[in-house]
Amino acid sequence: MNLLLYGAPGSGKGTQANMLRSHFGIPHIATGDMLRAEIAAGTSLGQKAQPILAAGHYVSDEIMIAMIANRLRQPDSRRGFIVDGFPRTIPQAEALDTLMHELGRHFDRVLYLRVELDELLQRLSGRLVCPQCQRTYPPGTALCVADGSDLVQREDDKAEAVKPRIEVYLQKTIPVLDHYRGEGLVSEIDGMGTIDDISRQVMAAVTAQPAKRA
Ligand code: AP5
Ligand code: MG
Repeated sequence: MNLLLYGAPGSGKGTQANMLRSHFGIPHIATGDMLRAEIAAGTSLGQKAQPILAAGHYVSDEIMIAMIANRLRQPDSRRGFIVDGFPRTIPQAEALDTLMHELGRHFDRVLYLRVELDELLQRLSGRLVCPQCQRTYPPGTALCVADGSDLVQREDDKAEAVKPRIEVYLQKTIPVLDHYRGEGLVSEIDGMGTIDDISRQVMAAVTAQPAKRA
């Protein structure tokens, strides 16, 4: 099972990926989480990426394509994967097509979580994350259920970074959806309900008849 999660910042990609990862036992490959791990580890890539993420801009296609190519070639990806946060630009989508072809794989489904702007802004401003395992939590949660860490606010959820994140998503990432619509792979999910409601819709889309491939 190879799945691609698509949606705006705060649409619930990470939240639904946790559910899918537990259900299918396949890795959740989130480029944002990978960049934050590089930043936390203080690598040269992390040092380069930190101000870009903090400002709500995109890291270069060149860096991101190399990062996903390396990750999808890891042995644990052979069982399948849930990709979250990539591709975000048309050149990234084209590079991913080539990579999937080279790996002899295809996406079974692209899950588009559709959420209204006001709701996105509310979720991002209230979100808490675990600095250790990067699980996300709604406002009011104190500790991570997985490792007991104190939760923190993500640097790019501060008000000044949220507007550029939404703007760059509308400008560069919305066109990526059409790339996959053309292949008949996209399932649109109403992302405005409760987390459980949305999980049910996601599972129904994933277990539906295989998409007709172009
Ligand atoms: P990334 O980490 O991918 O951030 P994002 O796309 O902005 O998405 P988020 O992680 O903010 O939201 P989400 O959809 O996962 O929502 P979540 O489940 O947490 O990327 C970060 C940055 O890295 C980018 O800005 C860019 O700089 C860089 N980057 C990454 N990939 C790149 C690439 N390919 N190219 C270039 N640059 C790249 O949910 C949000 C909140 O809402 C949580 O608190 C959650 O508990 C809550 N919530 C979830 N579902 C519901 C619900 N149904 N009802 C109520 N609350 C809910
Ligand atoms: Mg996320």
